[in-house]
Amino acid sequence: MKVIHVVGARPNFMKVAPVLAALQGRQNVVQTLIHTGQHYDANMSDIFFQQLGMPSPDVNLEVGSGTHATQTADIMTRLEPVVTGINPDIVLVYGDVNSTVAAALVCAKLRVRVGHVEAGLRSFDRTMPEEINRLVTDQLADMLFTPSEDGDQNLRKEGVAQEKIHLVGNVMIDSLVRLLPLAKKCSTEGFPERYALVTLHRPSNVDDSVSLKGILEALLEVSRRIAVVFPVHPRTRQRIADLGVPLGNLHLSEPLPYLEFLALQSRATAVLTDSGGIQEETTYLGVPCLTLRTNTERPITVTMGTNILVGQDRQKLTSELTKILDGQAKRGQAPPLWDGRAGDRIAEVLCR
Ligand code: UD1
Repeated sequence: MKVIHVVGARPNFMKVAPVLAALQGRQNVVQTLIHTGQHYDANMSDIFFQQLGMPSPDVNLEVGSGTHATQTADIMTRLEPVVTGINPDIVLVYGDVNSTVAAALVCAKLRVRVGHVEAGLRSFDRTMPEEINRLVTDQLADMLFTPSEDGDQNLRKEGVAQEKIHLVGNVMIDSLVRLLPLAKKCSTEGFPERYALVTLHRPSNVDDSVSLKGILEALLEVSRRIAVVFPVHPRTRQRIADLGVPLGNLHLSEPLPYLEFLALQSRATAVLTDSGGIQEETTYLGVPCLTLRTNTERPITVTMGTNILVGQDRQKLTSELTKILDGQAKRGQAPPLWDGRAGDRIAEVLCR
C-alpha cells in the first residue's frame, strides 16, 4: 500500500507523527511525507520535525504565505504532479488548515482516495477559514477518522455514510502522551514560577485592531494578578507591531518548540488561548483553559474537560481567572480514546 501524508502547518506535525510511526514497519506499506511549506519559519516547522522524531519531508512544495486563494491554489498546482507521479492508494490529510483542503481537492479530482485525520469537528461558524476547510474536506474524504463521538454525529447529520466514519481517538494526544515525560525534564528557567500562558492567532481575534487592542488590554489587566507568558505567533506579531500598544509587563517570546511549550502548558496555572489543539491538550493535562472564542469545534473539551469559553467578554475572563487563582478551577477528565493509541487504530483500519 502506497500512502502519502500531506502536512503544512504547525498543528499538523504532531498529528502526522503518530500515524507515520504506526504505519512504519507494517508489511507492504510505503510512505511519502509531503510538506506544503505553508509554515516555513524554522521555529514553526523544522524544530517540530526534530522534536517529534520525524523524518524530513520527502517533498517540500515551498508554497509559503499568501491570501487564502493564492495559498490554496499554489498547493494544488504543485501537489497535483507529485500525486500523479506516485500514484498512491491513499492520501492522508490532517486537521483543518489550507494545506488540508487543498490536498483533498487535488486528490478528489484525480480520483485518488483521501483519508481525513481529525474529521467531523464543527464550530458551526462559517466566518472561520478552518470551518470551511473542515466542511469541504469531509465532503471529499473517503475515510474519516474522528477524535470523538460528536464528530461522528456531525458527519452523519451531513449525510456522510456510516461505513466511511472511523472513531479512532485523538492523534494530537498520541504525541503528547509519548513526549510528556521528555517535556517534564525541560527546564523552564527564566520563566516566572507562577504564570498564565497565552497564545493568540485566530484572524477573528488578531486581524481586527479593535478586538486585538481589547484582548491586549485584558492581558495587561491579567498581568497585574499573575505573570503572563505569551509566545507570539508570526501573524500576531505583525498585528501587534501595527497597533503599537506597549506590552512591557508581558513576557513575550518567539513561538516555542513543542517540548518547551508542552512543559510550560503542563506547569501553567491557567492557559488563555484561541487555538484548537491547546484546548485539547489542556483538557488532557487537567490544566484550566480559558478560550478567547465564543464557539469551539471541540465541545468535548467544555463538556468533559477543563475548557471554558470566555470569548472577548472581559468580565467573564476576570471572574473565571479569579476562580482559578482561588483554587476553584473547573475540573475535568480525558475523553474516551484520548489514550495515545489513535495512530495505531488508524494504521489498523488502513491495513484492514
Ligand atoms: C494556520 C491555520 C490555522 C492554524 C495555524 C497554526 C489556515 C487557514 N490556518 O494559521 O488553522 O491554527 O496555522 O499556526 O490554514 N507566517 C510566518 N512564518 C510562517 C508561517 C506564517 O511568518 O512560518 C506569517 C505570514 O505572514 C502569514 C501569516 O503568518 O501570512 C499567517 O500564516 P498562515 O499559514 O496563512 O495562517 P496561520 O495564521 O499560521
